[in-house]
Amino acid sequence: MLDFLITRATLPDGRTDMGVAVQDGRIVEVAAGLNAPAHDTLDAAGQLLTPPFCDPHFHMDATLSYGLPRVNQSGTLLEGIALWGELKPMLTEEALVERALDYGDWAVAKGLLAIRSHVDTSDPSLLPVRAMLEAKRLMASYLDVQLVAFPQDGVLRSPGGLNNLIHALELGVDVVGGIPHFERTYAEGTASVKLLCELAAELGLPVDMHCDESDDPLSRHIETLAFETQRLGLQGRVNGSHLTSMHSMDNYYVSKLIPLIAEAGVSAVANPLINITLQGRHDTYPKRRGMTRVPELMAAGITVAFGHDCVMDPWYSLGSGDMLEVAHMGLHVAQMTSQTGMRQCFDAVTTNAAKVMGLQGYGIEAGKDASFVLLQARDPIEAIRLRATRLKVWRKGQLLSEAAPTVPHLSLPGRTAAAHQSGNRST
Ligand code: FE2
Repeated sequence: MLDFLITRATLPDGRTDMGVAVQDGRIVEVAAGLNAPAHDTLDAAGQLLTPPFCDPHFHMDATLSYGLPRVNQSGTLLEGIALWGELKPMLTEEALVERALDYGDWAVAKGLLAIRSHVDTSDPSLLPVRAMLEAKRLMASYLDVQLVAFPQDGVLRSPGGLNNLIHALELGVDVVGGIPHFERTYAEGTASVKLLCELAAELGLPVDMHCDESDDPLSRHIETLAFETQRLGLQGRVNGSHLTSMHSMDNYYVSKLIPLIAEAGVSAVANPLINITLQGRHDTYPKRRGMTRVPELMAAGITVAFGHDCVMDPWYSLGSGDMLEVAHMGLHVAQMTSQTGMRQCFDAVTTNAAKVMGLQGYGIEAGKDASFVLLQARDPIEAIRLRATRLKVWRKGQLLSEAAPTVPHLSLPGRTAAAHQSGNRST
């Protein structure tokens, strides 16, 4: 007898009436019309069953610090960096762990079960690193956290930057980060990409850099990142985050660059909520959107995912850990309103994000982990439109979170048929 069986589920690829059988925390069978004896059975009634949401780009050491020691009045990147500088001396390990755990609660409730978080390695105390390693340990039974050694102040620009980053990796941080566009000169930025990729090759680690988070069309560190990836044989292990300068680059140059990225097997992460608010700030009108060229990168076969980047921190006062909100913004900013485009935006916060993170056991198919989310929606497009309620969230067969369906009770004078007023036509 099975441990658990879900019947009549719709899957993100469009298959309907699907049964998913679970045994010992793993999926043992996925088939249309599947029915078998099980200790526990759930009728999904045609609702969408998706693999969990994954956030491939986040800053868990800064999250939920909104208002500490003050709010970002202008909402700009520069005031955010200044504010983070004011906050850093006041940080305690305990407070960072507590905020990370709170965010983990939010994430799980939203069906977000894997997060790649950059952690600031600039300070020799490595206090944020120690705190995030502890938070990762405490959440390991319900949330997959990957940590990226992120030299926020520049690995070459800040004193001891490289040593601090190496020390963070020795403590157990999983991924080599970088921020080449923030180094003092373009040449130093290039040098930082080279040395960090060499370090990753030597240690056998993946690479994920903040790369060209700028409106400067001549910020071309992604070219070096792709080159170094190929030179060092790091294909499939390297990600470029943000790549916003590509928004402003010359089309001819991009026509050479995108195939180079594809050839190198480098993936890309855009952060729509943050890119649309922080980029283009030096523009009058027209104002650039700043997000990288998502559909063009996807069309070249490059794995492109969306990240949340920030939630209630010095750079962004909003956010709730909802990757459907991220997909919703990405879809709008990139004008990906075709049926295919909208589904690709759903993939950008699920399967593509899992691929960027190199997650094992991900997906709704036999042999994978029984980790999935039941949404109050019929398909991925409706899920994005409604930022659909996460009815149930499972990880490895264990139910972690559930929520009641969203059904408003309306009392509208003179209106007799108000059943569709909720916006959710699937209920
Ligand atoms: Fe970031």
